[in-house]
Amino acid sequence: LAGAADPEVLSLSLGLPDPELFPVDAFAEASARALGRHRNVLQYGLPCERLKRQICAHMAQRGVDCSPDRIFLTGGAQQGMHLLAGLLLDRRSAVLEEELTYPGFQQAIDRYDPDIITIPCTTREGLVVEAVERAFARVPRPALLYIMTDGHNPLGVSLDLEKRRRLALLAREYHVPICEDDAYGFLCYEEARLPPVRAAEDEWVYYIGSFAKVLAPSLRVGWLVVPPDLMRPLSVLKEAWDINTSSYTQWMLAEYLDTGALPAHIQSLCVAYRAKRDAMHAALCAAMPPGCRWTLPSNGVFVWIDLPDGVDASALLNEAIQRERVAFLPAEAFSRGRRRNGMRLNFSHCTIAEIAEAVARIGRMLRFAMA
Ligand SMILES: Cc1ncc(COP(=O)(O)O)c(C=O)c1O
Repeated sequence: LAGAADPEVLSLSLGLPDPELFPVDAFAEASARALGRHRNVLQYGLPCERLKRQICAHMAQRGVDCSPDRIFLTGGAQQGMHLLAGLLLDRRSAVLEEELTYPGFQQAIDRYDPDIITIPCTTREGLVVEAVERAFARVPRPALLYIMTDGHNPLGVSLDLEKRRRLALLAREYHVPICEDDAYGFLCYEEARLPPVRAAEDEWVYYIGSFAKVLAPSLRVGWLVVPPDLMRPLSVLKEAWDINTSSYTQWMLAEYLDTGALPAHIQSLCVAYRAKRDAMHAALCAAMPPGCRWTLPSNGVFVWIDLPDGVDASALLNEAIQRERVAFLPAEAFSRGRRRNGMRLNFSHCTIAEIAEAVARIGRMLRFAMA
């Protein structure tokens, strides 16, 4: 990561939004309004009820019907994950995670030394729901299953409707909480949009939301949608960690959301990221050697590349940074070190010209390595 931070290196490694698309002016105005109207925005404070109501309206756009008494405000999705882990895990609890998953989730659970049950997933269809069912039936009281229904990190894949329905039914039948991370659900590039699993199950699916990818990561504001009886234990955990999410950012965000600008802003992000996704696909078609496979994601900011057996993306990373001045994240980072022949490429952060150049460099490096 330090190598990839070198400005000379074209980095497709992190899931950063395009900074040109941050709504800087609208935030400046919202910030001035928040500071002008409420001196308490600079005080310690209770969660902003107005923001909770606005998040319910935002969730309705995703097809989720929920009330403010189910919204728990967090300092981002990452904190949401930590809080749910703190609530649901004891030492050695059984946790179901996909064979390729978001490393931030692994960081959130590993302090509990969990008993990890690995669920297979495929590049084209994602999580194998039959394997979830077998695990729910076999393992006594799993603490949770972690999923990313749309724009999976790192695979980019989104689950079909049938899988969503079955997951909702399984959670209910076996009483296993599903923690559904929807960091990329609002970034959708197709006409057909499917609601998250939470839309079909409001007791056993705990939804993890974030403004990081649709507005700005530095706000550090996210939310959980959970049953009301979890509010109090979550508040106790959160207070011990950070007292409260910044009142200032909560109120600034509430002022911004009040303008009604968010849906159009998300729409413009989707247009821009769709163009970048397509540019990456075209560049991959031109540059990748035979034997490398990828699919066009309908959501999110990542394309996953399956490399032929025996090609070790981790071993190639140093060479990529040193010689080709390009960076990606290797499969090892998402698989607890088990998988080597894959890489994740981000398409949201670089410009279209940089994406084309970065992919050409990766293709050249792979052709050389596989010759
Ligand atoms: C799947 C997933 N969940 C959560 C996060 C973190 O979100 P936040 O910045 O809201 O903590 C990320 C960031 O890349 C992510 O990819």
